[in-house]
This record gives sequence, C-alpha cells and structure tokens, in this order.
Amino acid sequence: MRELFTCPVCGQGLAEEPRRWLCPGGHSFDRAAEGYVHLLTPAQMRSKIPGDPPEMVRARRDFLASGQYDFLADALAEQLRPILPPEAVIFDAGCGEGHYTRRIADRLTAGGIRLTPVGVDIAKTAVRMAAKKVPEGRFAVASLYRLPVAEGVFDAALNIFSPLCAEELARVLKPGARLLYVVPAARHLYEMKEILYPEPYENEEKDVEYAGFRLVGWERAEKRMSLSQGELASLFAMTPYFWRSPREGAERLSRREQLEVTAAFRILIYEKKDEE
Ligand SMILES: C[S@@+](CC[C@H](N)C(=O)[O-])C[C@H]1O[C@@H](n2cnc3c(N)ncnc32)[C@H](O)[C@@H]1O
Ligand SMILES: [Zn+2]
Repeated sequence: MRELFTCPVCGQGLAEEPRRWLCPGGHSFDRAAEGYVHLLTPAQMRSKIPGDPPEMVRARRDFLASGQYDFLADALAEQLRPILPPEAVIFDAGCGEGHYTRRIADRLTAGGIRLTPVGVDIAKTAVRMAAKKVPEGRFAVASLYRLPVAEGVFDAALNIFSPLCAEELARVLKPGARLLYVVPAARHLYEMKEILYPEPYENEEKDVEYAGFRLVGWERAEKRMSLSQGELASLFAMTPYFWRSPREGAERLSRREQLEVTAAFRILIYEKKDEE
C-alpha cells in the first residue's frame, strides 16, 4: 500500500515497520505497544495545543460505551457504505478514544468493504485507547491543523465534534471523496442545559461552505435517551458545560437519578471538489 503518513520533520513518506515508522531521511518514530505512533514535533509539543484532558477522555469512553450514541455511528456508516469503493481507507479526524471508529469500521466491514481505518487526535490518552480498540487501524498523535498525512489518500473522512481544518482535510482526501462533519443541532442536550443554566440557549444551526469542498446535503440524527445518574454524570463530564456551568446547576444535575435527554446531531455532507 502507498504510504499514508508522512514524516513530521521532513515531509517524506513514512514506511511502516512493525516496531517503528521510518522516512527515507532517517527520521524514525517508535510504535507504542498499542500500535500508534507519536508524530507531534517538539515545536508542536512546546506550543501546548489543547487536546482533551485525560479525565474528559475517560468520561467520553464511559458514556459512549453505554451505546447511547451508537445510532449516530450507524447513521454515519449508512452514509458511507454506498459511496465507498470495495477497498477503502477512511479517516477519523479527531478520533478521540475510537468508539465511533470501531463501530463504523464494523458496520462497513460487515457490508463487504475491505477497510483501513485511520485516526488522528492530539490527545495521547485518547489515541492509545483508539489504537487498542481498532488494532487493524493506523493511529497517530498529531494535529488536525498540520496532518502528517500524504495528499489524496482517503476515500472518506469523518469529523465528529472535533476542530475542523478544511484545508488539511481537502488535501488528504481523494477528489470527489466525502467529508461527514457532525455538529450539534439546535436542541442537542437541551434538557440537560435546562437544569444547568438559568437561561439555556439553543445552538445555532448554520451551513458553512469551506474552500475546496461543496456542501452536498445534510441529515439529522436524533434520539431521546433515558439516562441513569451514572450516564448523566459521564455525559456531563464529556461536554464543555462541565467547565462552564454554574456550580448550583452542576449540583442540581448530580441530584437527578434519571433524565430524558435529546441527542440531536446534524451530519453535514461535503464533497471534495475536483482540482480546478
Ligand atoms: C469532542 S472530542 C470528539 C472525539 C470523537 N470524535 C468523538 O466524537 O467521540 C474532540 C476531540 O478533538 C481533539 N482535538 C482537539 N484539538 C485538536 C487538534 N488541534 N488536533 C487533533 N485533535 C484535536 C480532542 O483531543 C478530542 O479528542
Ligand atoms: Zn523525515
């Protein structure tokens, strides 16, 4: 297979050996025991780009393991299945701990596609979990704003609630390939926000165009979830509200033994334009 990843130091392709990835210039990157590779440069490490802290990563792992958001993974797999070639390389941009990567890969493989899942995240704790969960995949600790990835290698990309760098995604996708970008819909987790905030607000819904892409459509994925106290605590801890909510709001939420909460996502579907 053509080299997917590139050397973060000199930009040449990285050959994947069992214990390390190696560029022709002699730069070498060890594979961790879980199989992922750390490709942040020392300068990127010094700039302290914020990835999710480990406690947030663990909260997300716990909540996603409950299966409450699996309907979203299934909707994404349904979108991808008809448009992928029989052998496909898909990219999970900001893959977190790999819950969606795993489930989507399973659905697509069951649908007869020979799949190579690839994931990048800047949080090492998350990438370690993802690599463990998806041993057949390729995972790297890297920044979405400077992907150590060759041009035009992916048949599709997913971005689920992660920072979007459209320019980099356009570079690494094949012409005509799709990007599925998942964002919160207006009333995502609204019932939880009603408990947390005196004046909750709805999320703004907007269809943004990005250079290099054409917005070809969008879909809603929604579910009303009945959450236990434990699920509610994990869900709260994986959202930005955890850091921003007034303390009384957080206390009110922690006293709920059960809550009906709506998960409401929008899947924005972009197609990479052919070279103009
Ligand atoms: C809300 S989480 C979503 C994770 C996963 N897609 C999911 O939905 O479970 C956002 C992710 O983006 C990662 N992230 C934030 N900034 C990043 C960057 N500059 N480069 C790569 N990943 C980044 C975080 O570490 C985190 O895992
Ligand atoms: Zn190199």
